[in-house]
Amino acid sequence: MTQLSAAPTGEPVPPDSGRTLYGGKGTRRVTVRDIALAKERGEKWPMLTAYDAMTASVFDESGIPVMLVGDSAGNCHLGYETTVPVTLDEMAVLSAAVVRGTSRALIVADLPFGSYQEGPVQALRSATRLVKEAGVGAVKLEGGERSHRQIELLVESGIPVMAHIGLTPQSVNAMGYRVQGRGEEAAQQLLRDAKAVQDAGAFAVVLELVPAELAAEVTRTLHIPTVGIGAGPETDAQVLVWTDMLGLTGGRVPKFVKQYANLREVMGGAAKAFAEDVVGGTFPQEEHSVH
Ligand code: KIV
Repeated sequence: MTQLSAAPTGEPVPPDSGRTLYGGKGTRRVTVRDIALAKERGEKWPMLTAYDAMTASVFDESGIPVMLVGDSAGNCHLGYETTVPVTLDEMAVLSAAVVRGTSRALIVADLPFGSYQEGPVQALRSATRLVKEAGVGAVKLEGGERSHRQIELLVESGIPVMAHIGLTPQSVNAMGYRVQGRGEEAAQQLLRDAKAVQDAGAFAVVLELVPAELAAEVTRTLHIPTVGIGAGPETDAQVLVWTDMLGLTGGRVPKFVKQYANLREVMGGAAKAFAEDVVGGTFPQEEHSVH
C-alpha cells in the first residue's frame, strides 16, 4: 500500500517520490528535500522573485514552487539604484508579506548587504530574524569560498541556505555588472566557489551571469541544484526577477531576460483610461454609485 504522510493541514499527501515541483499538487509547502529529489530525477524547475503578498499569491496559484524575496527589491520595489542600501528590516517586512501571500512555495529570503559579512554569528542572527519573524523556509547569501563559514553555521543551526556565486550584485562597487568566470583562472575560481558552498551544506546555488558552458560544467559537477540567471539552458533551475519577466521594469532589461508580458504598457494604459474618464466625467457611472 502507498505510504501517506500527514501534511500540516491534516490532509494526506503522497510520498515525495510521487511529486513534481512544478505542476505538482501540494497540500504542504515545498521543502529543500523536495528540491534535492528533483535534482535526482533530473527535473528542471522555475523560481521567481516576489516582494509583496498579492503578486506572490498569483505565482503560488500558478504553481511556481520556489519564490525568492530577493534584495533586487532594492531596485525593483523600493526605488534604490542598487541592492546595496536594502536593510534587514526591509527584507523582514517584504518576506513576511510574501509568506502570508503563499501556501505552497518554498520562500527563500535574501540576507541583505551588511547583514552577514562580519562573520557566521552575524549571519546566524540575521537569518534567524527572517526565519522567526517572517517565516521564510530558507535564506540566500552571496559569495562562494568567502562565505563558506557563514553557510556552515546556518546549516548546522537548521537554516537551509541557497548560495549565490558568479555576479554578486551586492559587490557592485568592487566588481561592476560584468560576466563572471570568463578565462581559465576565473572559471577555476567559479568551480572552487561552487564546490565550497556545496561542501558547506548549501541546498542550491544561484549562478548569475556566467558563460553557459561553465554553468553546464558546474551543474554536472555538483550534486546540489544550480539555479541560473544569465547562465544558459543547462542549469537545473532558472530564476528571473518578476518585474523584468512581466515587463514592469522601466528602461533597458538585460539580454538574458525573456519578457512574457508588458505590464508597464497595460498598467500605463489603464491609468490613462481612468484619468480620462475622471476628467471627462464618464466615471463613475450609475452602476458604480451607492444610494
Ligand atoms: O535579488 C535577486 O533577485 C537575486 C536574483 C537575481 C537571483 O539575487
